Amino acid sequence: MRIFVTGGAGFIGSQFIRDIIHRFPSAEVINFDKLTYAGNLSNLASVESAPNYRFYRGDICDSEALFEAIPRECDAIVHFAAESHVDRSIHGAREFVLTNVLGTQTLLDAARARKVGRFLHISTDEVGGSMGPDQWLREDSPLDPRSPYAASKAAAEHLVRAAGATFGLDYAITRTSNNYGPFQFPEKLLPLAICNLLDGQTVPVYGDGLQVRDWIHVEDNCRALIEVLLSGRAGQTYHIGGGQPRTNREALGAVLEALNMPETMLTHISDRPGHDRRYAVDFTKTSSELHWAPEISFERGIQRTVRWYAENRDWVNAVRSGHYLNYYREHYGIAPRTEARVA
Ligand code: NAD
Ligand code: TYD
Repeated sequence: MRIFVTGGAGFIGSQFIRDIIHRFPSAEVINFDKLTYAGNLSNLASVESAPNYRFYRGDICDSEALFEAIPRECDAIVHFAAESHVDRSIHGAREFVLTNVLGTQTLLDAARARKVGRFLHISTDEVGGSMGPDQWLREDSPLDPRSPYAASKAAAEHLVRAAGATFGLDYAITRTSNNYGPFQFPEKLLPLAICNLLDGQTVPVYGDGLQVRDWIHVEDNCRALIEVLLSGRAGQTYHIGGGQPRTNREALGAVLEALNMPETMLTHISDRPGHDRRYAVDFTKTSSELHWAPEISFERGIQRTVRWYAENRDWVNAVRSGHYLNYYREHYGIAPRTEARVA
């Protein structure tokens, strides 16, 4: 099996590559990543010398680079590469449209030209917009994205479906809920909270903190992604959720408990504009068709994740100071194009 992964130096992509390399030693993995502020090759240190792993630095908007990097007889593209943080998309949506929309179309064109076997597109539950208290996002629910990030991901999904309908591309789309776990850049809520608290700093809570997210450990997500890649039906969308909804205050409560810290470490600040109140994916179809279920309970997953960040202070410090970018220079003799911004 020859798999071309985009965005494999990021949080979920690097977990996916580590899992594939360990579970399928005969699979060949090519990681194509632009190395933005979110791409960190030290996430892949455990596999970088594996004979079946190769890194290629490039931008998914660059069709020539893609054509050069995608091998002949490529069984699958797994497309993680994206600008992924809602707050950044509120501050500036341009990069989101370029990478998430134009980049996805450029990759679809390259997949077609290279006759790639399957296109696994990684999307998000955020394309469905904010759910009411009793509402669930189903695979056939209408899309109602409300942040520039979610809108760019919804556009990308439409382009993938269009390539399937128009050109017969074999694709599957996954929509996952909020991931957490090791190697997550400390700009998203949970790693930000853990890193702040480990440094003795407070955690900013937007608005009343009663927004609901369905947390899933990244290992559970990647297990599902592998199932969809190998056994998902062509042209289908699969939801992946943790089945463990928590308000932000509850989720942060679990982090505080793991660190034995008081609630006074939470500071309420003004709300995010257009803040989605609740995400809720119905993943019954994925469970019943692919015999998958999340296994890591939120409280156990949080304890493990807090321990990981506490034991990997070098990784955190390097990421927060931007020094991880030196890794590229040392190992690859290259400098990243996008400057790191401290979360
Ligand atoms: P991330 O921000 O950690 O990583 C993104 C990766 O993409 C980085 O390595 C970055 O360098 C690379 N990249 C960005 N622009 C690129 C470009 N133009 N060309 C090539 N590479 C580029 O993101 P993540 O949290 O690992 O998310 C991965 C995917 O999963 C994204 O598509 C995201 O929308 C989706 N997703 C994430 C979550 C979550 O909770 N993190 C939930 C649902 C879906
Ligand atoms: P985030 O991790 O950015 O994921 P998303 O917005 O894609 O769900 O945020 C998760 C929730 O936490 C969301 O409701 C916004 C909130 N939040 C805070 O309250 N404070 C923070 O500092 C951040 C980054 C997020």
